[in-house]
Amino acid sequence: MAGNRTFTMIKPDAVGAGNTGAIIKIIQEAGFKIVAMKKTHLSAELAGKFYAIHKERPFYKDLCAYMSSGAIVPMILEKDNAIEDFRKLIGATDPQKAEPGTIRALFAKSIDANAIHGSDSDANAEIEGNFFFSQFERF
Ligand code: RTP
Ligand code: MG
Repeated sequence: MAGNRTFTMIKPDAVGAGNTGAIIKIIQEAGFKIVAMKKTHLSAELAGKFYAIHKERPFYKDLCAYMSSGAIVPMILEKDNAIEDFRKLIGATDPQKAEPGTIRALFAKSIDANAIHGSDSDANAEIEGNFFFSQFERF
């Protein structure tokens, strides 16, 4: 059965452009409950750990540099069918290919600076949520 939680991060381009509030509004209006949220900053080393799954990909180094270039807003979100519904809400990785009205179509600048992350499976949502939040930060 599909899980009811996902993990997201508003990325440095969107936080830097002042779009945090607008993006949170879209997420809440789509029916997601915020279970945990904070504003923080990743070192390049921690960004590398978070995206370790992409270690062998050509874009890995740029991705780690980019993800540590400014503040981010990680969140754990709750909703039925959370993973799939949230990936639909954010749109394709490349904003040029993202459906109109999706968060990436609205706010992303490029395939690297693509505004927001969304977990791709229940298992990864669990791992990624645990990466940022302790049990005392979830409500
Ligand atoms: P995310 O993990 O951030 O939600 O993005 P995603 O699932 O849509 O895409 P993924 O394949 O997991 O890639 C992670 C991030 O790496 C950058 N990327 N660049 N230049 C490229 O071909 C390329 N492919 C991926 C993107 O910033 C993507 O969000
Ligand atoms: Mg991904």
